[in-house]
Amino acid sequence: MKILFVCLGNICRSPMAEAVMKHLVDKNGSQSEVEVDSAGTSSYHIGSSPDHRTIKVCKSNGVKVEHRARQLVDEDFQRFDYILCMDDSNLSNVKQHASNVANSKAQIQLLGSYDPQGQKIIVDPYYGDMSDFEVNFQQCLRSCENFMKQVELI
Ligand code: 4NP
Repeated sequence: MKILFVCLGNICRSPMAEAVMKHLVDKNGSQSEVEVDSAGTSSYHIGSSPDHRTIKVCKSNGVKVEHRARQLVDEDFQRFDYILCMDDSNLSNVKQHASNVANSKAQIQLLGSYDPQGQKIIVDPYYGDMSDFEVNFQQCLRSCENFMKQVELI
């Protein structure tokens, strides 16, 4: 199973979700079954490391982050089974992109649609503070755990 997380810049939320999912996959010994990556809808930060606040919140929760920002490309729609977006703007941009790609197999959804607490939107934290990143992290954690259950990875 191949899972791609998508946000706007690919430096705050989606590399966080990628790190959380990889952490859970490792913890559950499902590495051989799952591939995880992230991308942004924009080109703003291509090649950049994750935002220092994403690194900080992941580190303080014992989750390793390793990613370089990249932009979503046509091939992602043929390669990934799931493309999980952070907010409605990402979702509509990704669906629009998918409509221009032949043979898209990806299921395009909100990551937060898997949140057992029903917080569907993982809000852009870029102009926020650490407390926003902490909220994002908990949302990613709850949603990724529940996603793994739903798709029977755990
Ligand atoms: P992300 O956050 O989409 O979670 O990576 C943002 C990062 C950068 C910008 C906006 C959101 N920006 O406008 O540069």
